[in-house]
This record gives sequence, C-alpha cells and structure tokens, in this order.
Amino acid sequence: MVAVASTGTEEITMQSERTLVLIKPDAVQRGQIGEIVARFERRGLHPVAIKLMQVSVDIAQRHYAEHRERPFFGSLVEFITSSPVLAMVWEGPGAVAMVRGMMGATNPASSAPGTIRGDLAISLAMNVVHGSDSPQSARREVALFFADDELVEWKSAGAAWVLSES
Ligand code: RTP
Ligand code: MG
Repeated sequence: MVAVASTGTEEITMQSERTLVLIKPDAVQRGQIGEIVARFERRGLHPVAIKLMQVSVDIAQRHYAEHRERPFFGSLVEFITSSPVLAMVWEGPGAVAMVRGMMGATNPASSAPGTIRGDLAISLAMNVVHGSDSPQSARREVALFFADDELVEWKSAGAAWVLSES
C-alpha cells in the first residue's frame, strides 16, 4: 500500500513497511509492555505479529551478528537472553524510520525526552527497546523471529483516518 502524507506544506507518498520491534528484558521486567505498545498504536501503526518469547543464544547471536567483533557483543547476547522479550512486527507507512525516531538515540543518556528511551531508560546496555535500522534489516530480522504463518495480514479500521491512500 502506498499512502499519502503531508510534511509541512508538501504531500509525499510513503511505502508501507514492516519493522521488527523487541521490548527488551529490562522493559518486560519493569512492566513497560503496555506503555510501549500504546505508543505505536497511538501513532497509527498496526501490529502484524506479537509474541512473548525467550530468545535463544543462537537467535541472539544471529540477530546481533553485525556487532560480533565488538567488545560488548558477549554482554549484549547475555542481556537479550536473560529474560523474556516481547517480539513484535509493526506495519505502516515509513514504519522503519518512524519507529527508530520514536525509540530515540541508542544511549538513553542522550535520547530526547518524549522518545521511548528518553522517557523510560537511563542505561546504554538496558535501553528498553530494539527497532530494525533499515527496511533490509527489517526483512532479515522479521524472518529470524517469526515464521511466515505468524504474520497476520489485516487492515486496521483507523488507517484510513491516519493517511489517505493515493
Ligand atoms: P538496537 O539494535 O538494540 O535496536 O540498538 P541500536 O540499533 O540503537 O544500537 P546498535 O548500535 O545496533 O547497538 C545494539 C545494542 O548494543 C548495545 N551497545 N553497547 N557499550 C557500547 O558501546 C554499546 N554500543 C551499543 C546497546 O544496548 C544497543 O542497543
Ligand atoms: Mg541496532
């Protein structure tokens, strides 16, 4: 679906995208699931898949493969496998960049207030949420966390009141 959005005075078309979001172990343990899910709903995105899961070391290492050589890789894998995460796929026009914007900077110490990390976190290691960083990463990560038959194709009633179709 291609939707029409306005930025300032201009109308632009935005491709509908899917993005993988993880509510990380710290946020699940702190009871922040509802708070975070509500923000994506309020913005106008809709969920295509949601599951609570214990991430295996294998999936964690593949998910964070780009960081394999970094000194924090071991502790990153240990953290993401330490307790359940809520894995989700959210869909909407420009969803990948939109979710990244809503998450805020990687280090919550410099995440803007109003963003998820800027409002809910302090620590770089326990920064509450993951979101795919590009449409290509999103396709890879969605396939890593979800089987095709776990992705539910549907159109939210509210979508027509968020953006008009071109
Ligand atoms: P994420 O993948 O978790 O959504 O975070 P991100 O894209 O904002 O940041 P990324 O560069 O992909 O880093 C992945 C996670 O690794 C931890 N990190 N630690 N010690 C360090 O220098 C360092 N740098 C990154 C963070 O927890 C980050 O979320
Ligand atoms: Mg990342």
